[in-house]
Amino acid sequence: MRSLLHLGFLASHNGSNMQAIIDACREGRLRAQPAVVISNNSEAGALARARQEGIPTFHLSSRTHPGALDQVICQTLLDHQVQVVCLAGYMKRLGPQTLEAYRGRVLNIHPALLPRFGGEGFYGEAVHKAVLAAGEKESGPTVHLVDEDYDHGPVLAQARIPVLAGDTPQTLAARVLTQEHRLYAETLQRIVTGEMVLEGLVL
Ligand code: GAR
Repeated sequence: MRSLLHLGFLASHNGSNMQAIIDACREGRLRAQPAVVISNNSEAGALARARQEGIPTFHLSSRTHPGALDQVICQTLLDHQVQVVCLAGYMKRLGPQTLEAYRGRVLNIHPALLPRFGGEGFYGEAVHKAVLAAGEKESGPTVHLVDEDYDHGPVLAQARIPVLAGDTPQTLAARVLTQEHRLYAETLQRIVTGEMVLEGLVL
């Protein structure tokens, strides 16, 4: 039987998307194995969650590794035989070495329908506030391939939900987050089955 797809995570905050993917792996909905979790934030919930799950964790930031962060992140992913990198609320740009080593194999999730409502500064409530201010009828998460820019790169999957009358940034965020958790794991499973092909990924 083919071995499980090795996933590496980078997360800065709560890590609920990472957790949803870990849960999908455990429950057999996703034929993959979480191999390592990296955070720039030593207090990140994502690190605590990963420790709880027995997954190796690393706190790597421009403070812990001045001038060498990109190289250390790349090496950490390689050391853990990571095949696909999942950004899960990671608030930093990846460096050129990591992007080159994992070109076409780094995924991100964003809580809006890209290419709109993304880019630097579009995180958390700011995204949903902008969606509501624009009077959008629909919103929903996007899973996309990562390149040098924030929230940029080819879209792999989106889910659409209606914006409801009376929605606040918080109520909209909560409904979108539920969709994020489903969409990220499902998209990864489509990659595992070969239904969705990532250039550079040898299965
Ligand atoms: C998620 O809503 C994710 O879409 C967003 O950060 C949140 C992380 O939540 N990412 C971005 O806004 C990327 N620009 P989590 O830590 O609970 O997974």
